Amino acid sequence: MTQHLAASATGTAAATSDRPGWWRDAVIYQVYPRSFADGNGDGMGDLPGIRRRLPYLAELGVDAVWLSPFYASPQADAGYDVADYRAIDPMFGDLHDADALIRDAHGLGLRVIVDLVPNHSSDQHEWFQRALSEGPGSPVRDRYHFRPGKGADGAEPPNDWESIFGGPAWTRTKNPDGTPGEWYLHLFAPEQPDFNWDHPAVRDEFRTVLRFWLDMGVDGFRIDVAHGMVKAPGLPDMGHGEQLKLLGSQVLPFFDQDGVHEIYRSWRQILEEYGGDRIGVAEAWTPSADRTALYLRPDELHQAFNFHYLNAPWESAELRRVIDESLDSMRPVGAATTWVLSNHDVVRHTTRLGGGLTRARAATLLMLALPGSAYVYQGEELGLPEVTDLPDDVRQDPSFFKSNGQDGLRDGCRVPIPWTTSGTSFGFGEGGSWLPQPEGWGALSVQAQTGDPGSTLELYRTALRLRREHADLGAGDAVEWLDAPEGVLAFRRGAFTCTVNTTGVPVALPASPGRVLLASGPYEGDGTDGIPAGTTVWWSV
Ligand code: GLC
Repeated sequence: MTQHLAASATGTAAATSDRPGWWRDAVIYQVYPRSFADGNGDGMGDLPGIRRRLPYLAELGVDAVWLSPFYASPQADAGYDVADYRAIDPMFGDLHDADALIRDAHGLGLRVIVDLVPNHSSDQHEWFQRALSEGPGSPVRDRYHFRPGKGADGAEPPNDWESIFGGPAWTRTKNPDGTPGEWYLHLFAPEQPDFNWDHPAVRDEFRTVLRFWLDMGVDGFRIDVAHGMVKAPGLPDMGHGEQLKLLGSQVLPFFDQDGVHEIYRSWRQILEEYGGDRIGVAEAWTPSADRTALYLRPDELHQAFNFHYLNAPWESAELRRVIDESLDSMRPVGAATTWVLSNHDVVRHTTRLGGGLTRARAATLLMLALPGSAYVYQGEELGLPEVTDLPDDVRQDPSFFKSNGQDGLRDGCRVPIPWTTSGTSFGFGEGGSWLPQPEGWGALSVQAQTGDPGSTLELYRTALRLRREHADLGAGDAVEWLDAPEGVLAFRRGAFTCTVNTTGVPVALPASPGRVLLASGPYEGDGTDGIPAGTTVWWSV
């Protein structure tokens, strides 16, 4: 299945963003390949579509692009079920398209980060298929977690772990002769069997996969479920019936085990060997910012998503607490903090924060004024809301199907984005879109918003331009908090001050912070006249 690429691979990262430590204050844009741009009119986004839209991203002013998985996959979990780590799914294109995309991105000064899914493969992966066909006792089974069941006839799962998508984390196999066989572990969907990372072949395989993509010229990896690969020895019972409620609040026998760090130390050596400041970004759901920092020790990864910030409510004291905690916890390991408000797994922040576009824009300007790196999810620059009324028959998210009565929250943030005011799928492609777009989305399109100074797109463009022009905005590892009225955050960033009125009423500042550089809503005063409700202002001191 592996595709071979003619000798056109670049071998080195291009000379884009050559500043050492480029990631420390980078703005990284997440492309969700299915839903960004469709180049061949089949209703599904693809690599040629993305490639054509790269100039848009360069103009937006981001530093890097992170692409969610585009590998060969049966798409049981939208590509997070990988059947071949060295091939592109035909739905998205081929390796030549990937090569061209990486080259073009570099030519435009954009770095490219690809998604690596090492915790589990697809059940269609060659290794898993072989494990099934060879049956119990075969050593190839050891590359996954196969176990006999408990109870009479082995009819009970080997332990009490639950899948993140609901139901038991184990599925029973059939023996090659058709009789009921062993069970295998899958922390996510049954189509996503977990690798056994104690097996040297698994470790070797992923080191080779890293090299494959580094040879293609990528600038880094976003590591899926980076906290999950190592399981507690003996796979002990949790002894708790509502495991999903414990996720992210404590170390679990399948998440955030200390043994995982050894893997990252070995990966870091490979990244260093390639040079060019290539990075590893952990998707690690941990109980605390301090535990997240462990992934970012100088000999491990470079960044981790700050889900503590993403989960913070729109409330000044809590925001300040999370910001301080995020910055404090990274300082001992010398890593830059990251900030994120939206991604392909959560409700878009225009909807989630509960204050519509006004609050979403204020939240964005707060995020972009903080020291460190920020992640932007495709479509948030258009202010897209979550699509909450998708009919059940178009949904594809496995969490919708596998868990009883859950809302299937993840399809609503994955609806293809609108590029033009009218036309088939608002310019997403020529052949419709795999999830239906709401009728009014033409008004939110790139075309509609371009050149409109009040639009969210122009707000992002201006904010990103200012961040580039004034290094003060993203630099450093601390904010200097200033006294502010109840419900208002105020902090200094070098030559700038940022104020955030989180309340629902205008609030006057005791003294003017300076001249308005940028505001998340209409405002031109000096601060003493009352900053409008739900508005963030960048001031030049
Ligand atoms: C990560 C991905 C998510 C996926 C899961 C399993 O959390 O972001 O989309 O379903 O891992 O791979």
